[in-house]
Amino acid sequence: MAKQTSYDVQDITLAPAGKLKIEWAGKQMPVLKSIHERFAKEKPLKGITLAACLHITSETANLLLALQAGGAKVIANASNPLSTQDSVASSLVKDYNIPTYAIKGEDNKTYFKHLNAVLDENPNITMDDGGDLIYALHTNRKEKLAQVIGSSEETTTGVIRLKAMEKEGALKLPVIAVNDSDTKHLFDNRYGTGQSTIDGILRATNILLAGKIFVVGGYGWCGRGIAMRAKGMGANVVVTEVDPIRALEAAMDGYRVMPMTTAAKIGDIFVSATGDKHVISKEAMTLMKDGAIVANSGHFDTEIDMASLEKMKKSKRNIRNFLDEYTLSNKKRIYVLGEGRLVNLAAAEGHPAEVMDMSFANQALAAEYLVKNKGKLINKVYVLPKELDIQVAAIKLKAMGISIDKLTPEQKKYLDSWDEGTS
Ligand code: ADE
Repeated sequence: MAKQTSYDVQDITLAPAGKLKIEWAGKQMPVLKSIHERFAKEKPLKGITLAACLHITSETANLLLALQAGGAKVIANASNPLSTQDSVASSLVKDYNIPTYAIKGEDNKTYFKHLNAVLDENPNITMDDGGDLIYALHTNRKEKLAQVIGSSEETTTGVIRLKAMEKEGALKLPVIAVNDSDTKHLFDNRYGTGQSTIDGILRATNILLAGKIFVVGGYGWCGRGIAMRAKGMGANVVVTEVDPIRALEAAMDGYRVMPMTTAAKIGDIFVSATGDKHVISKEAMTLMKDGAIVANSGHFDTEIDMASLEKMKKSKRNIRNFLDEYTLSNKKRIYVLGEGRLVNLAAAEGHPAEVMDMSFANQALAAEYLVKNKGKLINKVYVLPKELDIQVAAIKLKAMGISIDKLTPEQKKYLDSWDEGTS
């Protein structure tokens, strides 16, 4: 294999550890493996240059390898300055010849240098987690837009942004909202974020959750997962919401529901998971008890009003990895995890491979779908066809050794008809 030369990683000698991590994750990803094997035979991405702006983790590495097996030239950069697994980034370069631009803890300037480096390779497909490549293609890198046949987006936050672009008529590409497949958000957002957020909080703090008042901002699929797992660890969970239906659901799921400014006065731990900004606001932080812990599990670090906290602080010191103490002028201390960036990837390793298996199977199928439908799609946000979602679930069930019932011809006929009612 010809060795490529351009990349930017922390330390290329970390590659052997990264390779082991990639292989371990791959073992838990049977759906992606089956797609990888089919792609290796059929080469549906032959001739395509694919730029992936994703969290550079061992799970992502397995997606990139499937895309490469499908014939694509793959280049990758980090979709967040704090989520990179440096050993994995090195292994992608050294062992798999994938130009990778990602360093854990990179500053904003380096982050955008990396983003621009992948766009410099003239991609035909872009893959985002948070929408930064798409944003660049519509703003300061417009000259790279014409050669892109389409894009895909991994996360809720990115899809919110894309739908706003579509609504304004600003979207200049067809985009697949991978997040909106059932086999993505019902599993990754709920069970993945649920487990990995708790994992990040525990790794950063080593606190006991039992008996704590644990405030979850937002009751979407991520918030539902976080609340469920915090409750399972014995925390007393409070939910804050803006949507009456979700608030009602949270109340009937057994949680206390109240405005954030009320929750602020009683909470021990606060986690935001909404896709919106300033969910943990300046006002809320002013009201918090001494010693409150705040974390963000949404894509962008704006969910916590970090800028105001920085301005309000009297002093700041680092206590442990990914745990900073902010002392305010009233002497109250607030503890921020992972610099306000997504705590599950900053302080832990993101979602486990078993759920990323389905998310990334959808990503691989999205790339194939964009190639197959080249020229036929318009500039809007698409969801992958339901049959593909069902296919992903069926392969996952098979891999888990679970079989399910089939409709009888009589049941099928009954469901398709309207003339059988009360007998
Ligand atoms: N998003 C959340 N968890 C992730 C993981 N393990 N890899 C890539 N993206 C992720």
